[in-house]
Amino acid sequence: MRDKPSILLVEDDEEYALRLKKNLEVDNFAVEIALGGKAALDSLARTSFDLVITDVKMPDMNGLELIEIIRKGGRQGIDPEIPIVVLTSINSVDTAVVSMKLGAADYITKESDRPEIVLRLKKVLEQSRLINENLYLRARLAQTDEFSEFIGESEAIKKIKSEIAELSPQGVSLLLMGETGVGKELVARALHRLRGHGAGPFIVVNCAALPDDHLIQSELFGHEQGAFTGATAMRKGKFELAVGGSLFLDEISELSRASQGKILKVIENRSFIRLGGTREIKVNCRFLFATNKDLFQEMRASRFREDLYYRVNIYPIVLPPLRERREDIAPLARYFIAFFCRRYNKPLKRLDARALERLMAHPWQGNVRELRNIMERLVIRIHGDEIKAADLVTCGLVLEPGRGGTIILPPQGVQIDQLEEDLTRQALERSGWNQKAAAGLLGISVDRMNSRVRKYGLTHPTWLKHKPQSMDETGER
Ligand SMILES: Nc1ncnc2c1ncn2[C@@H]1O[C@H](COP(=O)(O)OP(=O)(O)OP(=O)(O)O)[C@@H](O)[C@H]1O
Ligand SMILES: [Mg+2]
Repeated sequence: MRDKPSILLVEDDEEYALRLKKNLEVDNFAVEIALGGKAALDSLARTSFDLVITDVKMPDMNGLELIEIIRKGGRQGIDPEIPIVVLTSINSVDTAVVSMKLGAADYITKESDRPEIVLRLKKVLEQSRLINENLYLRARLAQTDEFSEFIGESEAIKKIKSEIAELSPQGVSLLLMGETGVGKELVARALHRLRGHGAGPFIVVNCAALPDDHLIQSELFGHEQGAFTGATAMRKGKFELAVGGSLFLDEISELSRASQGKILKVIENRSFIRLGGTREIKVNCRFLFATNKDLFQEMRASRFREDLYYRVNIYPIVLPPLRERREDIAPLARYFIAFFCRRYNKPLKRLDARALERLMAHPWQGNVRELRNIMERLVIRIHGDEIKAADLVTCGLVLEPGRGGTIILPPQGVQIDQLEEDLTRQALERSGWNQKAAAGLLGISVDRMNSRVRKYGLTHPTWLKHKPQSMDETGER
């Protein structure tokens, strides 16, 4: 809203209109007059106003009709939500009531005095400001939060996004499964947040962090004063704190069978009793469960109760490991770089093609969390505006050896020549471009190292300076 609220005054009695305009201008309103409904619609389509005051009886168009046209949003360029105040005479308050049903915000009578009119107008304007602000904030939240942090272009992630959007409003319990770092908590939070206004609290319980049954139960159920030594005051548990919101039970496979049984009862009865208490307390939160174990296997091995398994596994969502959705690696890497450059106040860096290739080939046992950590380190430690493959090694990216010192073959296979080039380069980088040391790292002779260097055209800036041509002339090919 501008500093002077602008009003369109719709009134066929020109003399009265001018008088009211002058009065309102004293109180710092900007007022334009329209001498009838049709003129009013034209003005509204042309200029934006903060409020409309309209007379009811007018020759060309009744004020009530005008309200209807505006509210139905039939006319382009006119804000259908603009606050409208009806101007009536004191003996036609009935009309005022009808107009409010049609969507007028308030009414004033021609007999009201200036302070009263001004007070009412200000109230209406304030109300509309609050409504707008709220809508604005919500629209902004919707834009910045919902999925803008949930990056991914793979089919798997697209499908999960649409599932989240569909399931979010339906309070159904969900089970999120996937390796560590794939984004289970992120999905749980997105699900919760998408409920928007009135989603209530999002409460997290990490079952693995509370290995002892007593701690888990007092954390979840809360306790009455004196329930056990040390319970000096009543404390609400997470079931109670999550009222009207979501309770995220993380790492549920880590619960003991005893705790599993207690939780099953709460889910079945939708109520619980605080430790040391007697009163039943209702549970009305949504349950979101997560596990990085195969819960079915856990059940088969009798580590997870079968009855709880079926309660928890109503709607499972499986987040695939990052190495099974490599299309997500580049967008995620770029997102994290941009994110950390902003956080650490650095100019935006970009990944060069070889660095990206290296990221694409990595097995990502730690999934998105591992990628995020490496990108954070890169942003902190690399000063140039381009991130190179060698920088990745500096910041902790290594080909992870599998059991028995072998390299794990990624599910999509490898290009063996590419891998050789990659390993040769890594060995050189790690040994400060000393060919003998690099050859040692790969268990090959210096001669062979030298020939790989030429084969792949691996050069370090200082090599070019000191040995301009000799390397090309004596090549193996
Ligand atoms: N698709 C994604 N887009 C953006 N950030 C992501 C995405 N997936 C995961 N992350 C980020 O990666 C990190 C790990 O994600 P999260 O904590 O949700 O994993 P998790 O599956 O709960 O892992 P754990 O089983 O170890 O608890 C978080 O910082 C999260 O914000
Ligand atoms: Mg987690």
